[in-house]
Amino acid sequence: MYKIAVIGGDGTGPEVVREGLKVLDVVSKKFGFKYETKEFDFSGKRFLATGKLVDEKDVEELKKYDAIYLGAVGDPDVKPGIIETGVLLKLRFALDQYINLRPVKLYNSAFCPLKDKKPEDIDFVVVRENSEGIYKGMGEFQKKGTKDEVALQISYNTRAGVERCIRYAFEFTRKRNKRKTLTLCGKTNVLTYAWDLWQRVFNEVAKEYTDIKTDYAHVDATTMWFVKNPEWFDVIVTDNIFGDIITDLGAMIQGGMGIAAGGNINPAGVSMFEPIGGSAPKYTGKNVINPLAAICAAGMLLENIGEEKAGKAIENAVIKIVQTKVKSLAAGKMGYSTSEIGDLVIENL
Ligand code: IPM
Ligand code: MN
Repeated sequence: MYKIAVIGGDGTGPEVVREGLKVLDVVSKKFGFKYETKEFDFSGKRFLATGKLVDEKDVEELKKYDAIYLGAVGDPDVKPGIIETGVLLKLRFALDQYINLRPVKLYNSAFCPLKDKKPEDIDFVVVRENSEGIYKGMGEFQKKGTKDEVALQISYNTRAGVERCIRYAFEFTRKRNKRKTLTLCGKTNVLTYAWDLWQRVFNEVAKEYTDIKTDYAHVDATTMWFVKNPEWFDVIVTDNIFGDIITDLGAMIQGGMGIAAGGNINPAGVSMFEPIGGSAPKYTGKNVINPLAAICAAGMLLENIGEEKAGKAIENAVIKIVQTKVKSLAAGKMGYSTSEIGDLVIENL
């Protein structure tokens, strides 16, 4: 019996999670596994009503689960930064989900904004470091409010933190067994402390993985290749902020936020799966948002807890309907409502 914590969150989060849970229910019967869910109401809404974010007790409770399924958090009525750091980053950090795994896979060339790119050209995975870097929140103001003000925001990179991320990426590349190529995406030409460490650790660890080809690309060049030659990539490993930025571009070339899923992974603990798009306030409650990213995130969750076949079945059903039914991956233009898309996935399982 798996225990899954469910955080619907804000905006369209609960709507897309509902569809993912619908699919999970059917797939569990088909593949013969049992699970129970419990809902947690962490959100901007809850913060506005109670002032509460995620606290240590919540974290301890969540550690009892096999996985967390998250919709989206973020409320336009709350100042930017509070919910993000108090809920999403808090969970990632407190549960030591040090990998953010973001597959970028095109399922139908009709939904790719790039000319002449086919599904076989866009199929790579970004391994984003998820616990350090500039996201660490280190820094300070000096002379705040004066003309001489200085704002420092520090990129914090530990040898151990960088190494565990790079090792994960090498293992992942080997297991994926596709082109067996791992690209380090950084900025060694300017960020000469952080990326010197990353490059050194990458080169050292690479010696243990002689079956994996290695490559390096500066982050700015990486964005260029995503558009020009995405077929060059197999697995990319990068730091927190670069991973954040390039995976939004990745989402666009795979068809948009409506289809992009990710996992916040603690290989030895509780991982959390989410569609990578936000809470989309303007579409909330209209039954028009695309739930496929959330449904794919549920598939990733199952693969992570050991139900690989069930997870793969979800992905295959999504591929089928994206290739044959769905008119667009954008909210309101799919040719189906949010709940109809969930039904279609179930019919194609
Ligand atoms: C993401 C999001 C978050 C991030 C925000 C909401 C804090 O953009 O998951 O990519 O920057 O990591
Ligand atoms: Mn982001």
